[in-house]
Amino acid sequence: MQALLVDLIRLRMPEGPAPMHRRLYECLRSAIQEGVLVADSLLPPSRVLASELGIARNTVLAAYRQLQLEAYVGSRQGIGTRVKQLAPERTARAIAFPSGTEPYKSDALSARGTQIVAMPRASATQWSAFMPGVPDVSRFPERLWTRLRNACWRSHRSEELCYGYGGLAQLRQALSLHLTATRSVNCTPEQVLVTDGAHQAIDLITRLLGDVGDIAWMENPGYWGARAILEANGIRQVPVEVDAHGMRCLEPAAGEAPRFLFVTPSHQYPLGSVMPVQRRQELLALAHRHGSWVIEDDYDGEFRFSGNPVPAMQGLAAGSRVIYVGTFSKTLYPGLRMAYMVVPLELVASFRAAHAELYREGRLMTQATLAQFIAQGHFASHIRAMRTLYAQRREMLAHLIERRLGRDWMVRGEDEAGLHLVMRFPIPLQDTVVAREALARGIHVKALSTYFAPGTTAQQGLVLGYACVQEADMVTKFEALLSALRATDRTT
Ligand SMILES: Cc1ncc(COP(=O)(O)O)c(C=O)c1O
Repeated sequence: MQALLVDLIRLRMPEGPAPMHRRLYECLRSAIQEGVLVADSLLPPSRVLASELGIARNTVLAAYRQLQLEAYVGSRQGIGTRVKQLAPERTARAIAFPSGTEPYKSDALSARGTQIVAMPRASATQWSAFMPGVPDVSRFPERLWTRLRNACWRSHRSEELCYGYGGLAQLRQALSLHLTATRSVNCTPEQVLVTDGAHQAIDLITRLLGDVGDIAWMENPGYWGARAILEANGIRQVPVEVDAHGMRCLEPAAGEAPRFLFVTPSHQYPLGSVMPVQRRQELLALAHRHGSWVIEDDYDGEFRFSGNPVPAMQGLAAGSRVIYVGTFSKTLYPGLRMAYMVVPLELVASFRAAHAELYREGRLMTQATLAQFIAQGHFASHIRAMRTLYAQRREMLAHLIERRLGRDWMVRGEDEAGLHLVMRFPIPLQDTVVAREALARGIHVKALSTYFAPGTTAQQGLVLGYACVQEADMVTKFEALLSALRATDRTT
């Protein structure tokens, strides 16, 4: 780093008649103001910098002293001179991140770009109590993973450092066995395609099978991420009501047949219902009649805490119109950015080719490690351990809600699954205001109303992730949430 900093100073040093210490001061000040040197960066020791630049050490010390005087840097014996955190008004390049729900605006954006950022839902903070959909990443077996990864590196082939093409064979094999055995998916390893997250899988499906103006039926409420991807690809979305059995099955009007049906049948997102077999068959029959594709998002199907696992819809449909999508974001950790899809045999070649054309697959060594992780049984035991843990955390949160607020704040039922639960408001409260109040108290909750398509009648409540909240923190974090609810109640 230090050598790079010296090069940077050489490159940015202004010319001119001003004395050297002044020019060095200006060079560093502008780098700090522009955010090129970020808070906590360590400046080179004065003796080193003086010798590298061929100037006197006192010249460097004079520049550092001035920066310190103006509070751009701080200096302490034995620690060196470090850049300080600047107040936003002192930086030349403050980035405006609108908070809440107001849209991003920039004349530079295309019409599509404007649409993509019009209603941003993804949160920059993820590791926080009650963030929905975030697993307990602190339980990821890092040592074991490192051992497997090192073993893979010791015996790797050169191809594994090149681009991939649809996924490493060992990973596709391991996944196909896992999906057949645990999710009742009907597939061979050839049908499995590895992607950088479910988002990429949904993007690929949409682009490859849909044209601008095609219709997608979307669960309402439903997953905002999928909505954003379809919208960016010019797909017209029809919000379809979710009842106790998941997405309702209606007969489309003439000329309005959907090209896609986007469903989360094993655990409706976010309300939690399981789609019974009759509804699944109705939707599959509709897909066959109209030539629609069912996108089955099985995002957390591994985490069912009572009763038998709910089999995937894909397994029901021989000669299928279903494309199954699963992800390691919930079972391992989201930053892994690894997911998979199962496509009908006749589409495999096109999907692999399009995947390579659009995204250029990589990280085959990570795929190799993951294949070993699954094949040696570690994936199954990690899921088992997390299932027990999340069931306990869910119970803890549900109990707190019932004891501190009342039974009518939470519907207990078949939704004994997943990484989140839904809190209802039996009194008039605006959920977006509660979410804002919660954020002011350091907790992240999502307003249920934001999962509904714009222009439709939204229910009020909160989607609360419990998987990422340690038992020791649950009560204090819940107290903070109660305080947010009280504050909202007072202002309503
Ligand atoms: C319902 C649902 N589907 C898909 C995903 C995205 O998965 P990935 O991280 O693999 O893109 C999420 C992530 O939160 C989700 O909640």
